[in-house]
Amino acid sequence: MGICKPYFRLNPLVCMKTFCEYLKSVGVDDELFAILGSLKDATKRIADHIVTADRGKAGSMNIFGEEQLELDVLSDKIIQEECGENPYVGLLASEELPDEIKISDGEYGVCYDPLDGSSLVDVNLAVGSIFGIYKTGSFIGVKGTDMIAAMASVYGPRTTITLTIGDGVAEFVRCEDGDFKLQNDSIKVGEGKMFAPGNLRACAYRDDYMKLTEYWIREEYVLRYSGGMVPDVNQILLKGKGIFSYPGYEKAPDGKLRLLFECAPLSFIMEQAGGASTDGKVRILEKEVESLDQRTPIYIGSKEEVNRCEEYLA
Ligand code: AHG
Ligand code: MN
Ligand code: MN
Repeated sequence: MGICKPYFRLNPLVCMKTFCEYLKSVGVDDELFAILGSLKDATKRIADHIVTADRGKAGSMNIFGEEQLELDVLSDKIIQEECGENPYVGLLASEELPDEIKISDGEYGVCYDPLDGSSLVDVNLAVGSIFGIYKTGSFIGVKGTDMIAAMASVYGPRTTITLTIGDGVAEFVRCEDGDFKLQNDSIKVGEGKMFAPGNLRACAYRDDYMKLTEYWIREEYVLRYSGGMVPDVNQILLKGKGIFSYPGYEKAPDGKLRLLFECAPLSFIMEQAGGASTDGKVRILEKEVESLDQRTPIYIGSKEEVNRCEEYLA
């Protein structure tokens, strides 16, 4: 087992706990242990490919009519391979696939955005993968509250995993031996003046979103927005404060971000860290998935900030 260097500002004993050791220590059952292990292995492989793989276009479109990059397709393939070898995963749904696919008789379903923010790879900004795990035979009709676990992998200067199994949030960092080590087993989100205002173009159409944004500016919030939802939300989790917003507007009433693949899993993680998440009226985790490509506005982060969004946008 590798030794964590001092730059991991950790109690060395905590630091030595690997991803798998952590899962054992919190008593996850064998099935979930295996599934999360597969997603961790996929994360490693995707991280390695991002460093060297072709950054170009794949020449195809996803179900959202968005142009796929080679890396979108490759990341999707890696997750399909890792889950395909796992007997407990029976169902997959991906932002890059036209429909959900039954791959075995396993009882669990994994839905995922294989590479969130993929267009940021060529400018060398951080990107991520998002995973939601349900015990279900179809994702149609599920709600975020049905989720058993959610995981977000961040590919930045370091590769990290943020995980909830419904009992708090833990963060893991990939160490020099290639394995993921526990960095923090109780991520907490409180209050603080940091904002990541997505879809600011909506201000050209919506006075309420303009007023909300003005509030953040006048109150001297610090701006932290990268254009990648995973690193932007992950920053709120790790700094322990802030708000990420992505409203709808005339041209896209429900915004851009996808309920099943992006918003629900990140909302599960945020709530488990003590934060909150809403579409402006309804808690994201209580929204039923009616179609795989369903979008939703989202305001996610510190509880008071999420309440403020609901008040301003009522
Ligand atoms: P994806 O790359 O999976 O399609 O998602 C990108 C998302 C998200 O990461 C980000 O918050 C949002 O797109 C930004 O969109 P715009 O810059 O187009 O508003
Ligand atoms: Mn995405
Ligand atoms: Mn994506």
